Amino acid sequence: MSAHPITHGSLDWIDAALANLHEQGLGRRRPERCGAQGARVAIDGRELVNFGSNDYLGLAGDSRLAEAIREAATREGWGSGASPLLAGYAEGHRRLEARLAAFEGTEAALVFPSGFAANTGTIAALVGPGDAVFSDRKNHASLLDGCRLSRADFRVYPHNDFGNLDRLLARPGKNCRRLILTDGLFSMDGDLAPLEGLVGVAERHGAMLLVDEAHATGVFGRRGRGVAEHLGVEDRVPVRIGTLSKALGCSGGFVAGSRRLVEWLVNRARPYVFSTATPAAAAAAALAALEIVAAEPERREGLLARAAALRERLAAQGWDTGRSASQIIPVIVGRPERAVELSRRLHRRGLYVPAIRPPTVPEGEACLRVSLTSAHTPEMVDRLVSDLGQLVGV
Ligand SMILES: Cc1ncc(COP(=O)(O)O)c(C=O)c1O
Repeated sequence: MSAHPITHGSLDWIDAALANLHEQGLGRRRPERCGAQGARVAIDGRELVNFGSNDYLGLAGDSRLAEAIREAATREGWGSGASPLLAGYAEGHRRLEARLAAFEGTEAALVFPSGFAANTGTIAALVGPGDAVFSDRKNHASLLDGCRLSRADFRVYPHNDFGNLDRLLARPGKNCRRLILTDGLFSMDGDLAPLEGLVGVAERHGAMLLVDEAHATGVFGRRGRGVAEHLGVEDRVPVRIGTLSKALGCSGGFVAGSRRLVEWLVNRARPYVFSTATPAAAAAAALAALEIVAAEPERREGLLARAAALRERLAAQGWDTGRSASQIIPVIVGRPERAVELSRRLHRRGLYVPAIRPPTVPEGEACLRVSLTSAHTPEMVDRLVSDLGQLVGV
């Protein structure tokens, strides 16, 4: 059956806008994966070694998560059928939130349908018109959108420059509440926020501090709580965001903090209040993932050690990996066309390493984003290094 095109003149502008994007080499498409997420995947019908996922601990395709879902869905069905405030909140959600609070060492936690929703909903619940929000220049889009949504005064400080932030906060102003936002581990640069400095600035000025640990949850810190734990300042970060969707291999996001924070968000975070609760069976998978994170610390420890070795090998070949200090390793090449070309050439050699271009990264910082996971074998990493080396004649 063929689809009938809906021709409506009011959308004609899209043709020119899309053509413009493609002309600039900024058009996007979605590579189609077949089968489970993992270190080896079939993308667009081709078997590839996958350096393009956020499945840092190799849990997305783990059969224990699938089994937890199967069991829970058999018992309770799949759909949650309503928002959490209207019969959608199930025992599984309560158990997951209690487990997340224990994992994070906080009084309480709240699970959102996505990390994106956790960020936008939390920010807009904490500040509003008449308040001020301060955001690192390289923060994730969801933090930025949370600022816009909140309608608070919005100031951007240079990447990781907490001295500059300190000066911004010292300026007299009549704003009521003030909120500082930072990624814990920056999703494209792979560098860490200087949280020891940021907590001091926040405390000095009586500002709230929100740290988005999306890419660090399960990876950084002795217990896998994230960069704040790694840097020994977790008790000084009052609002912590994490995701279930990256290292934990599930889907959803969460906020960890005090009981009063969570109660406020249950009342005021619109993406939580007005969105259907995630399936309770998905909560069962996240519980299973948290058990694995606790029981198998070698996954994260091995990953970070191997990431450090990979960064060194790439630097030895002359690649610029920026300030990466993590499993996210950008190979910065500058022009978007060059990033796309290198990604294509690696693809031909059987490696999936996505090119990241503006607006995801600033102009001039197009890169290949190498995402290392605990599922990559030493041979896969050797292959990446040798193929990249051959592309520049090393
Ligand atoms: C730093 C950061 N925060 C939040 C998110 C959103 O998380 P989710 O994918 O669970 O919506 C992302 C997603 O890539 C991210 O990189």
